[in-house]
Amino acid sequence: MSLEADIAHSADLIRSSQRLTVLTGAGVSKESGVPTFRDALDGLWARYDPAQLANAAAFQRDPKLVWDFYEYRREIMRPAKPNPGHTALAALERRFPAMSIITQNVDDLHEQAGSRSVIRLHGRISANKCFANCQGSPTPVDVTALEWDRGSGPPPCPHCGAPVRPDVVWFGEALPGDQLQAAIHASENADVMLVVGTSGVVRPAADMPYYAKRHRATLIEINPVESDLTPIIDLWLAGASGEILPRVLTALGAHG
Ligand code: OAD
Repeated sequence: MSLEADIAHSADLIRSSQRLTVLTGAGVSKESGVPTFRDALDGLWARYDPAQLANAAAFQRDPKLVWDFYEYRREIMRPAKPNPGHTALAALERRFPAMSIITQNVDDLHEQAGSRSVIRLHGRISANKCFANCQGSPTPVDVTALEWDRGSGPPPCPHCGAPVRPDVVWFGEALPGDQLQAAIHASENADVMLVVGTSGVVRPAADMPYYAKRHRATLIEINPVESDLTPIIDLWLAGASGEILPRVLTALGAHG
């Protein structure tokens, strides 16, 4: 079948769905200029493997290195704006109000685009918390209210003095329990799941399409290349989400 026919078929499936769930990964933000986690890093960071920086042991060993890495990623993300993929997903939610997005992304481009029901599995890069979570888990810290030598690494927690860290999920850490439960619920209840821009290698996020499939959902993937999830997908739309999602939306509109 041609891509055009597959897009029309996807629109038919979505149109007749009762419970639409979307799983997104870094690919959906790529056209906004946010490099995916596994893209080669440039400049100073080229010699580091991000996975070796995104963990608690690395932070304990060298808090300044890991903090500076996240400051670098924040700098890249700051000017980013939602792309037509994010905008199309927000429009889809307006049309199917029961829809929710489960995202692995730590940017807030879905919310910026107007999506309301967003389940965040991996936290938010713009937020920070106390490394020791001294006031309960999490203990948010607003670093804009703090004064410290920014060249020296993370500020100390104003409550206990432990270093402040980004409020994202690191390798080896548990996901926020409420968000994980909401994601499993949305997956198990889905009759159609869109899997957009994820390599499907990081669990438990990558388990969500399996939960959906086990409960008889139809899985539609949007990704320019095959992912680890492609083998269980029913319909693969090969292409960039910023191009394909608006076309799906147009196909939906065209047939009422
Ligand atoms: P990855 O960087 O692993 O994968 C990005 C996926 O997006 C790949 O499959 C690409 O082919 C695809 N892609 C690239 N450009 C695209 C485009 N324009 N449209 C659609 N798809 C495109 O990102 P994730 O799967 O999100 O976790 O990675 C999962 C997690 O791994 C991240 O959340 C992060 C990382 O470890 C944590 O930070 C805990």
